[in-house]
Amino acid sequence: MILKIGCNKIIKKRLFGRGFFMEKKDIKKSVYDFYDKIAKEKEKVSVDVDKLNKSLGYTNEDINNIPKGAQMGLGCGNPKERGKPRPGEIVADLGSGRGMDVFLASKAVGDTGLVIGIDSNYKMIEKAREIASKNGFKNTEFRLGEIEHLPIGDNTLDLLISNCVINLSTDKQQVYKEIYRVLKQGGRISISDIMLKRELSEQIKKDPNIYGT
Ligand SMILES: C[S@@+](CC[C@H](N)C(=O)[O-])C[C@H]1O[C@@H](n2cnc3c(N)ncnc32)[C@H](O)[C@@H]1O
Repeated sequence: MILKIGCNKIIKKRLFGRGFFMEKKDIKKSVYDFYDKIAKEKEKVSVDVDKLNKSLGYTNEDINNIPKGAQMGLGCGNPKERGKPRPGEIVADLGSGRGMDVFLASKAVGDTGLVIGIDSNYKMIEKAREIASKNGFKNTEFRLGEIEHLPIGDNTLDLLISNCVINLSTDKQQVYKEIYRVLKQGGRISISDIMLKRELSEQIKKDPNIYGT
């Protein structure tokens, strides 16, 4: 059967009702529930996290510099590597989790810089703050917030990084609007993320768990 998106409201309603598609609010809920379980350690990634990070371009030095508990194997690239944070810069990491990339960037910006991690999950923020305090990071802040409504003032950032988070948003246009609002003129972005090369099957699209992975 060929389903044409953009069909009239009644047909769309029937398709949603039969579980062919998920509505944005349900997708958002599944993503938030997915990461809540990870934040509360009810679930975790079943790979060797150091090996995964090496395969994503993190060096041995990077891995040794990540404080214990901050890396969870949730990234899909190394945005700091391309973004190259410099001493004194203000940097933000969208969807910072437990702060792995925040802590790495914090070394690069030094005492005169600042790295802000933003995450919608309070447990992630709480844990990242705990790790920062235990390890004496004075130039990091972790703010609870959504990437669609950044808790950052206009024209603030020299560099914005994000590791495998924007794909999770149901309103990517709004995320990019926010990114351009908070960047200073001449500010840089370095985003690692996943993109679809082809359409997913209907079976995958209606699986709520797939939206968080
Ligand atoms: C794939 S994990 C990446 C975590 C981190 N960047 C890393 O590499 O370890 C996604 C993170 O984004 C957060 N997140 C998901 N949707 C979000 C949103 N709309 N706004 C802010 N954070 C979000 C989740 O709570 C989770 O911590």
